[in-house]
Amino acid sequence: MPPETATIAILYDRPLPGADADERERLEVVAAIRTALTALGRPSVTVALGAEPRACLARLRALRPSAVVNLVEGWRGDPAYETLGALLCRAAGVRHSGNPAHALALAGGKVEAKIHLRRRGLPTPAWIADPGSWQTDDAPYLVKSAVAHGSLGLGRHALVRTPAEARARLRTLHARWGSVWFLERYVEGREFHVALLTDPARRPRAPRVLPVAETVFADWPEDEPRIVDYRAKWRPASRAYRQTRRRFLDRPDDAPLRAALARLGQRVWAAFGLEGYARLDIRQGRDGRLEIIDINPNPSLHPEAGFAAAASAGGLDYTRLVAALLPGEAHEP
Ligand SMILES: Nc1ncnc2c1ncn2[C@@H]1O[C@H](COP(=O)(O)OP(=O)(O)O)[C@@H](O)[C@H]1O
Ligand SMILES: [Mg+2]
Repeated sequence: MPPETATIAILYDRPLPGADADERERLEVVAAIRTALTALGRPSVTVALGAEPRACLARLRALRPSAVVNLVEGWRGDPAYETLGALLCRAAGVRHSGNPAHALALAGGKVEAKIHLRRRGLPTPAWIADPGSWQTDDAPYLVKSAVAHGSLGLGRHALVRTPAEARARLRTLHARWGSVWFLERYVEGREFHVALLTDPARRPRAPRVLPVAETVFADWPEDEPRIVDYRAKWRPASRAYRQTRRRFLDRPDDAPLRAALARLGQRVWAAFGLEGYARLDIRQGRDGRLEIIDINPNPSLHPEAGFAAAASAGGLDYTRLVAALLPGEAHEP
C-alpha cells in the first residue's frame, strides 16, 4: 500500500465516566479529525488510551499506522500524564502530530515553563512557587494550577489580595482537586492568543504565525476581574461565555502589536523546541508590557476552539489544517 493511503491512527485518552465538558469535548475532536481525514482520502482508526497503557502500545504496534494524530491530554483525567501519548508513539516507532514529549513536559508544566521563559529573557509575570511563603503586600495574585488546563480553579475567587486570602483559597482547592498550585501576578489588561503551526517550507525553528486573536471582554462589570474562566471556555449558556468574544487583530492600527505578539510567539517556539503546533496566551498590562501567561503545546483542536479559528482566519479550513498537522506532510503556505 503506498504511504499516502496508509492508515492514520487517532490516539486520545478516553474520558472517565462523568468527566467534565472539557474532557468530553475530546470525543468531538476525534470525530472532527476522522471526518477531515476521510475528506482527505485517508483511512483512519481511533485508538483509545484507557486504564492499561500497555494495551494501547500493543494496539499501535499491531496497527502499524503511517502516522498518529496525538490528542492525548493526560491519563485517566490526570493532565500530569500529558506526555504519555507522545511516549507511546515513540515506543511503538510511529511518527505523531504535535509536540515531542520533552516539549510537552517543559511547556506543559506552568512553573517550569515560567522558569524557562525567564532563563531565555522572555517576559512572564512574577510568581511565587510556594504559595505558603507569600508574606509581602505586592498583591494581587492569581492562584493557578501548576499542571491543569481548561481554566481549572480560575475565576473571580482565584484572585487574592492578601496572604490570608491565598491560604483560604488554597485550602478550598486542595480539598476539591488536590494537586499543586502557585501564585502568579495578576495582569490587568488585554488578552491575546498566538497560534503557531509548523511550516516545513521554512527554517525548522520558524513556525507559521496564524492570525493573532484577542479575547474581548464585552460589557464586563468594572469590578469583575477579566479572566477567561471555566464557564467562559466551556459553558455556552453562561454570561461569561457570551461576553468573551474573539476578534482578530486585523485592523491597520493593530499592526505594531500584531508584529510584537508574532515575534514573541516565534521566540517561544525556538526557546522551547516546539514542533507541530502550539498556542500562547499573552496579556498586556496597563503599562503596555506583553507578558506570557500560558504556553499550550497541545491546544484543543476542536473545530470551534481558538486554534482552528486562527487557522481558518489564515485561510486554512479545518480539513487543510488537519492535513498540515500530519507529521512530515507539507502544506500550502
Ligand atoms: N497572570 C494572569 N493575569 C491575568 N489573567 C490571567 C493570568 N493568568 C491566567 N489568567 C486568566 O486565566 C485564564 C486561564 O489561565 P491560563 O494560565 O491560560 O490557564 P489554562 O491552561 O487553564 O488556559 C487566562 O486565559 C486569563 O484570562
Ligand atoms: Mg490558557
